[in-house]
Amino acid sequence: MKPVGRLRLGVNIDHVATVRNARGSAYPDPLRAALLAEAAGADGITAHLREDRRHIRDQDIAALKAGISIPLNFECAATTEMQAIALRHLPHAICLVPERREERTTEGGLDVAGDETRLAGFIAPLRDAGIRVSMFIGHDRRQIEASARIGAAVVELHTGHYCDLHAEGRFAERDAELAALAEGARLAHTLGLEVHAGHGLSYETVGPVAAFPQVMELNIGHFLVAEAIFRGLGPAIEEMRRLMDEARA
Ligand code: PXP
Repeated sequence: MKPVGRLRLGVNIDHVATVRNARGSAYPDPLRAALLAEAAGADGITAHLREDRRHIRDQDIAALKAGISIPLNFECAATTEMQAIALRHLPHAICLVPERREERTTEGGLDVAGDETRLAGFIAPLRDAGIRVSMFIGHDRRQIEASARIGAAVVELHTGHYCDLHAEGRFAERDAELAALAEGARLAHTLGLEVHAGHGLSYETVGPVAAFPQVMELNIGHFLVAEAIFRGLGPAIEEMRRLMDEARA
């Protein structure tokens, strides 16, 4: 099939805040990073307000919402506290993720199928407020179908396992995971969901996912912030953009 449209790049700036918080200083400022990302061609900014505020903090969300001109994608767990924050700031989009305090990063996808009734009720006021609601899930058919049933606009497919298998050199398993992600993207698109993908993507792993014609947006953070140490945030993003466009073509 023909690609659904121009592939968007959402830049996740969480780990700019991680560096700031490591020293308890006022810098580096996530808003400054977001503005640099915007100037380098990012189509959106993603920020994850975790329950423990280990990177992004409440005032970062307010500053980002007020300061950037591109869409803000607010990532959070499906809790009443986060729902109230989202309704206060009205970001362009909200991406619901599972959250466990002891994890280093978001390890798995959301169990939409196992929590369908609650999640349907949870997202209703967000949708009514005009926020695009996305579910961060694995490529499991049950999760994709449940996301469609509860009325989510978007699913973001978790690419973390694919990236881990690549890093570990387990290429046959990586390719099988990639095929399952491709199948998930097809199913989600068929069900009328907008398809995003993200987690763990790097210059080495972005191409095959960017080539999925159903995918509209990639959300990438940790690798870009890490690469920024060596080449600067703007050039790091520009190179990612180039690789995405190359794969899409
Ligand atoms: N998408 C979602 C839903 C995430 O939770 C994260 C990590 O916060 C990302 C994308 C970006 O992952 P990474 O920082 O590994 O690029």
